[in-house]
Amino acid sequence: MTTVENRTPNELAEAERHTAHNYHPLPVVIAEGEGAWVTDVDGRRYLDFLAGYSALNFGHRHPGLIAAAHAQLDRITLTSRAFVHDQFAEFCRSLAELCGKELVLPMNTGAEAVETAIKVSRKWGYQVKGVPDGRAEIIVAADNFHGRTTTIVSFSTDPDAKADFGPYTPGFVVVPYGDETALREAITPNTVAVLLEPIQGEAGVLVPPAGYFAAVRALCDEHNVLMMADEIQSGLGRTGRTFAIEHEGVVPDLYVLGKALGGGIVPVSAVAADRDVLGVLKPGEHGSTFGGNPLACAVGTEVVRLLATGDFQRRSAELGEHLHARLTALIGHGVIAVRGRGLWAGVDIDPSLLTGRQACERLAERGVLAKDTHGSTIRLAPPLVVTRAEIDHAVDQLAAILG
Ligand SMILES: Cc1ncc(COP(=O)(O)O)c(C=O)c1O
Repeated sequence: MTTVENRTPNELAEAERHTAHNYHPLPVVIAEGEGAWVTDVDGRRYLDFLAGYSALNFGHRHPGLIAAAHAQLDRITLTSRAFVHDQFAEFCRSLAELCGKELVLPMNTGAEAVETAIKVSRKWGYQVKGVPDGRAEIIVAADNFHGRTTTIVSFSTDPDAKADFGPYTPGFVVVPYGDETALREAITPNTVAVLLEPIQGEAGVLVPPAGYFAAVRALCDEHNVLMMADEIQSGLGRTGRTFAIEHEGVVPDLYVLGKALGGGIVPVSAVAADRDVLGVLKPGEHGSTFGGNPLACAVGTEVVRLLATGDFQRRSAELGEHLHARLTALIGHGVIAVRGRGLWAGVDIDPSLLTGRQACERLAERGVLAKDTHGSTIRLAPPLVVTRAEIDHAVDQLAAILG
């Protein structure tokens, strides 16, 4: 008789033993991935309906992205920005074009791009708007998620993200998300920027009321305030458009990008804006050793090329309609509410049945990976290469655990 080796428990225990416990992962140890699927160390296959929090919009190991990375690995990987390399101009040019902006500033993680936007808007406030030194204010939304740096958690309203990490960075004003009146009342002559997620991901895939972002745009124009859209999770095809804010017919002054920009291979983030905004930075005032490195640029250029075809946005829009139709049909059958756009859904499970965590554990047992957020909400965000049949399979598993 042959015994099947079960490596998972040992791998989980080893991981626990040697790491800080800043995550509470599902008990799955992944060894390989392709497209919308991953395989664990014991050979079990799962449909990946988290997609690295949207960092894997193009799926695991997209052939074009892997080829671009391989080709670059054989040439040069890092120069620092002390020199220019031959992948830099094309990445910046093509990303700026995709965004309809004049300039981009590449960084690595999403949090660094948010920090960049904060710094640029403050400098713009002092140098262009004429705000008195040290008085710049940035308006943000309650229940925001923009990353984990000490400045960013300073304006978080989530105690888990914020408590015991003070003293906090001043200069941020929090208003309710989606509330135009509250935003209007919060603007002062010292307001330099409004920083918002077009759809709040961590908060549970919250879509603001129709017309909210048009009102934000109008208020920013009226008061000479920069509108900064954090599209790190919502952007780059996830909602059926290149940018989620496009659904609102609005163009922000700054796009803050990350996650999928690195093709699921390397961390690549960026801020895109026009010259009158990003031009405030002079040599020595901001930077990153790895930001805009050759490998990142080679992969990022290919990401932009994939997005420029519009195919992923179309897939997300079409398949997203199907996903939302299937999920909406579960309302009253263990599901209380469904929100989102494109291939992105926040699903509120009846809390008398399961917590979000329990729902994700049961889904994993049935070969579907998803992630809970607060309470009984789970997030579904498959790679945009997912098929209609795979969506049906995942929703069938959700229906089964609720039935
Ligand atoms: C909207 C948004 N902004 C910023 C970040 C931070 O990105 P990173 O984890 O790459 O620092 C995230 C990550 O989940 C995010 O969803």
